[in-house]
Amino acid sequence: MSVTFDESRVVVVDHPLVQHKLSILRNKSTETNKFRSLVRELSMFEAYEATHDLELEDVEVETPLETCTCKRIVGKKVAIVPILRAGLGMVDGIIDLVPSARIGHVGMYRDPETHEPHSYYCKLPAGIEDRTVLLVDPMLATGGSLTAAIQFLREAGAKDIRALVMVAAPEGIKTVLDFDPDVRLYTCAVDRELNENAYILPGLGDAGDRIFGTR
Ligand code: PRP
Ligand code: URA
Repeated sequence: MSVTFDESRVVVVDHPLVQHKLSILRNKSTETNKFRSLVRELSMFEAYEATHDLELEDVEVETPLETCTCKRIVGKKVAIVPILRAGLGMVDGIIDLVPSARIGHVGMYRDPETHEPHSYYCKLPAGIEDRTVLLVDPMLATGGSLTAAIQFLREAGAKDIRALVMVAAPEGIKTVLDFDPDVRLYTCAVDRELNENAYILPGLGDAGDRIFGTR
């Protein structure tokens, strides 16, 4: 039976440029260099969507002709938190958009046999409770890694968590949404299912290996 989830809590970034780039990302012939730059570009598009409601305040600006009232983002309150390793590939594209963002790290790997997540490193910026947290990882498969990272962030006091992934399996989406009723999820695609090794089908393979050229 196919897995269903609350679609109203998931934003699928379906812009034509995103879908075009995703098709190249999925291609097994796409080499590390290109893969890395596509992950960076797609992260920017996703962050653009995920920050559409950041709070603005008025600011007076003198143009060469006159003074006008413009808008600027209130405070400097965004934290980017990549799940290591593959999430690291998404950081630079988001920093291009939000240069003042602070960066935390959550180290997590999936046991190849059990597919259970194991945490090995955690370091967050100060004031995480007041920040909009962009939690990033290209792949959402079983949801174990993302769920564990969300739990860690909640325990650290994070209130506003937006998870940005590129390819998500329905099983993982359901697990994450059931675990945390408030997290917002952004993805470029919802794929068909997981295979017997908990890899996403059709997916794009092992994101960490493809970003870092390991394997
Ligand atoms: C991959 C991916 C996610 C996780 C997704 O990381 O980047 O973190 O698997 O799978 P899940 O939803 O079933 O938890 P991996 O554990 O391979 O580590 P890596 O980033 O170091 O390659
Ligand atoms: N991790 C990946 O990198 N790819 C998958 O398909 C599943 C987990």
